[in-house]
This record gives sequence, structure tokens and C-alpha cells, in this order.
Amino acid sequence: MVTVTVCVGSSCHMKGSYQVIKTFQEIIKERGLEDKVALKASFCMGRCLDGISMQVDDEPISHVGFANASDIFYQYVLPKVEEE
Ligand code: FES
Repeated sequence: MVTVTVCVGSSCHMKGSYQVIKTFQEIIKERGLEDKVALKASFCMGRCLDGISMQVDDEPISHVGFANASDIFYQYVLPKVEEE
């Protein structure tokens, strides 16, 4: 199980973190990854100046935005799912 944590603290929320979560939820559903990806929300991760903050397992990922959310999923989340 790959754990994807997206910050929903106020700064990331203002930048659209709920849209990012929604995009991830759609991809997870489309690809039937519900048993392989755990999507979680987090309070401030302490990197408010780096775009929307998220983490894939223990790996921090910055500069996430609504526009690149699906690219981020395919670049960082899917390879980890396929590794398992
Ligand atoms: S609010 Fe997201 S890192 Fe601070």
C-alpha cells in the first residue's frame, strides 16, 4: 500500500489542495487502485512556500499544483504502486 498525503493546511488549501485530492481520487478510481493507494489529508507540513505540499510514503514532494496533479501522480505515485 502506497500512502499519499496531501496538505490541506490553510496555505495549501488556498492553492487548491482539495482539487489535487479530487484529481488523485479520480485517477485512483479510474485505474482501480483503491486497494493499493491510501489517500490522506494532513495539516501544515511546514513547506508552505513550495506550492502544495504532499508526500508519497516518506518522500516529500513540493511544487504540486492543480495543473500538474495528474502528472505528479503518474510520476511519483504510480511507479511506487508498480514496485509493490
Ligand atoms: S499549509 Fe501546506 S505546507 Fe503549510
